[in-house]
Amino acid sequence: MKFCPLLSSSATLLTLHNLFLVTAYTALNDDFLHAIPSAASDFDPTNGSLLAPLLTPRVPGTENHTAAQHHFVNFFSTQLPKWTLEWYNSTSTSDANTPIENLVFKREPPWTVPGQANWLTLAAHYDSKEGSVGASDGAVPCAVLMHVARSIDKYMTQMHDEMDALGEGGTVEMDMAVQIIFLDGKESAGGSKPALYGSRALSETWENATNPVGSKYPNSLSQISMFVLLGFLGSVNPIIPSYFLTTHWVYRNMEALEGRLRKLGLLETQPPFAYFHQTNEIMATTEEPDDHVPFEERGVPFLNILPSPLPKNRDTNEDDGGHLDLPTVKDWAKIMTGLALEWFDMMEVWPE
Ligand SMILES: *[C@@H]1O[C@H](CO)[C@@H](O)[C@H](O)[C@H]1NC(C)=O
Ligand SMILES: *[C@@H]1O[C@H](CO)[C@@H](O)[C@H](O)[C@H]1NC(C)=O
Ligand SMILES: *[C@@H]1O[C@H](CO)[C@@H](O)[C@H](O)[C@H]1NC(C)=O
Ligand SMILES: *[C@@H]1O[C@H](CO)[C@@H](O)[C@H](O)[C@H]1NC(C)=O
Repeated sequence: MKFCPLLSSSATLLTLHNLFLVTAYTALNDDFLHAIPSAASDFDPTNGSLLAPLLTPRVPGTENHTAAQHHFVNFFSTQLPKWTLEWYNSTSTSDANTPIENLVFKREPPWTVPGQANWLTLAAHYDSKEGSVGASDGAVPCAVLMHVARSIDKYMTQMHDEMDALGEGGTVEMDMAVQIIFLDGKESAGGSKPALYGSRALSETWENATNPVGSKYPNSLSQISMFVLLGFLGSVNPIIPSYFLTTHWVYRNMEALEGRLRKLGLLETQPPFAYFHQTNEIMATTEEPDDHVPFEERGVPFLNILPSPLPKNRDTNEDDGGHLDLPTVKDWAKIMTGLALEWFDMMEVWPE
């Protein structure tokens, strides 16, 4: 593990905070924390509506991989009709000659024009290695993102409606949008290292997607306010390091959010250490290259919700539903929903 010391003077952090603050990030009050929906039975590995359909090997080009795509599409089209779907298909980079099929589901304020919105971008990969279900490696992160989308939807609607009625919009804080990316082709067909086909293709496509002249952001990629990658979630007692100085202030907010949820008795687990375990150090790299890398290389601020150490059973046939810790999975669903609500400053629509 490589660590670099965090520049720890509060003056430095304050400056960074101001430089990179694109939202009016506001902590939720206790009542709102209580109102964050529990994932309840939807994460049961045998029959949970969100998770169970994803617990098959999902190798690109196979029926199960297509079934996972249908699961996402059906969920959003039936339960979240205000979200739009964009496919990003590419054949250019896959070594197994299978097309790369990234799915992006998004909600944008009704008043924004192309090149105006800034996107909180929540991502996980949905493909798996051959013979592996990849329960923590892909399936749980994707199901958690579905829960987040469902849980923030009505607040997004309310916020957009109220702001639209007041004729608001036009500032970075007001033009916040959300997109959820289900990335394909993380795993390589042969080699042991992650291939990152989907994230490479998508980041390049978005970098090339130039916005109209006069837009606030030059291209689609630069509209990403923060790229949040979820990976290897669902094993008991994870520790999530802080990986990137630019987003360390968000990490600190997540630490505070988790602590408050625990204190209020709203999480099910009682781990020996908090998941966001402040060490005043930044871990300079992840243990393996992950899907944030192509975005990081292009200057996108990222936040990895990725444990270290990685689960021991990763890439084996033991990374299956039976080896998940269900209370941990449900706690992730709540914590990640809390982050999204705080990022979008949803206290604005909380009735007080
Ligand atoms: C789902 O499976 C669990 C066991 O994993 C069982 O306890 C529960 O009753 C099942 N729920 C439904 C609705 O079948
Ligand atoms: C598809 O999923 C089923 C159910 O988990 C599994 O039995 C089958 O082997 C999978 N097929 C492939 C090609 O991975
Ligand atoms: C991308 O691939 C999916 C799945 O095969 C297909 O349904 C979709 O129409 C394709 N989209 C585009 C734009 O090619
Ligand atoms: C992006 O643009 C570069 C330079 O024009 C080009 O070589 C590359 O093929 C483009 N990539 C995609 C995915 O559009």
